[in-house]
Amino acid sequence: MNTPTVSQSAELDRLGYLDIEPDPTLDLFEEIRTLKREKNAVILAHYYQEGDIQDIADFVGDSLGLSQQAAKTDADIIVFAGVHFMAETAKVLSPDKKVLLPDLKAGCSLADACQPEAFRAFRAKYPDHVVVSYINCSAEIKTLTDICCTSTNAVHIINSIPPDQPIIFAPDRNLGAYLKKKTGREMVLWNGTCMVHEIFSNEKITKLMNRHPDARLIAHPECEDHILAKAHYIGSTSGLLKFTRQDPAEEFIVATEAGIIHQMQKLSPHKTFIPAPPENTCACNECPHMKRNTLEKLYVCMKHELPEIRLEEWIIRDARASIDRMLDISARAGL
Ligand code: 13P
Ligand code: SF4
Repeated sequence: MNTPTVSQSAELDRLGYLDIEPDPTLDLFEEIRTLKREKNAVILAHYYQEGDIQDIADFVGDSLGLSQQAAKTDADIIVFAGVHFMAETAKVLSPDKKVLLPDLKAGCSLADACQPEAFRAFRAKYPDHVVVSYINCSAEIKTLTDICCTSTNAVHIINSIPPDQPIIFAPDRNLGAYLKKKTGREMVLWNGTCMVHEIFSNEKITKLMNRHPDARLIAHPECEDHILAKAHYIGSTSGLLKFTRQDPAEEFIVATEAGIIHQMQKLSPHKTFIPAPPENTCACNECPHMKRNTLEKLYVCMKHELPEIRLEEWIIRDARASIDRMLDISARAGL
């Protein structure tokens, strides 16, 4: 039974997910595996998802890997265990497939910080600039973008643009500042940040490094400059994961969303991973948007094939060009 009842639809609008409690006696792992088979569905999960979701997924990866998977899958249904902009990207790349997101309210502070009307006005002030947007933005922002990028391919994307061509970079000012340093390019930056990566405490990280002098500090480029300045390695989630496998160090202080430690620990069980501490005692190094998805919501979403990502045709058409350009440049760079 895949058609929602009227009361379910209203609940979905209000909460962003179907508020249906699965039978507590069900083995959700087994049920999800059966639904995947029966419906020819593929589960794509980001590294920041909770461990159980990463373990049941068909593919776990960074934003670039997830886009590449969404573009090439032959499944009928893509179940996106991530946030809204990622599921939108999957829909743009595979418009004929049904794309499900367990909780429609799984947003992103970076995407929210860049609204189309304001961005259109900003872009109009720099008519001769090429617009490069971090993939962490809405599909509508992608329609106003020349080339998308992720943290894995951002340097390659910027370097592919002729040196005399001025650039706007949106929406992450921290990643933008990092790229300016790394590529030597002047760029006009949009003023957005990730709520998780701007919360790390410089002081607490310094104390932690003093207590663990052999530990490596590894950081995502969405972090603020003062954290990046002391990091031994800076990279995307897949880059950080690779570094922890290859580096001989036994201890790592991890300055990114703590969900990635699940994979780090799986791939290097004998190593120690310490989540970088936030400013206060909250669990702010966990993304509240990513963590809206749960195994229960994943099951209910697959069973009822809701909530579904729906995009207007013009958005799919106009957003696609900027993502295709990114995928082309990445493929040429062997990423
Ligand atoms: P990557 O996995 O591409 O490094 O992106 C991190 C992120 O913040 C996703 O929301
Ligand atoms: Fe957005 Fe930051 Fe959450 Fe990633 S971790 S989804 S950038 S708010």
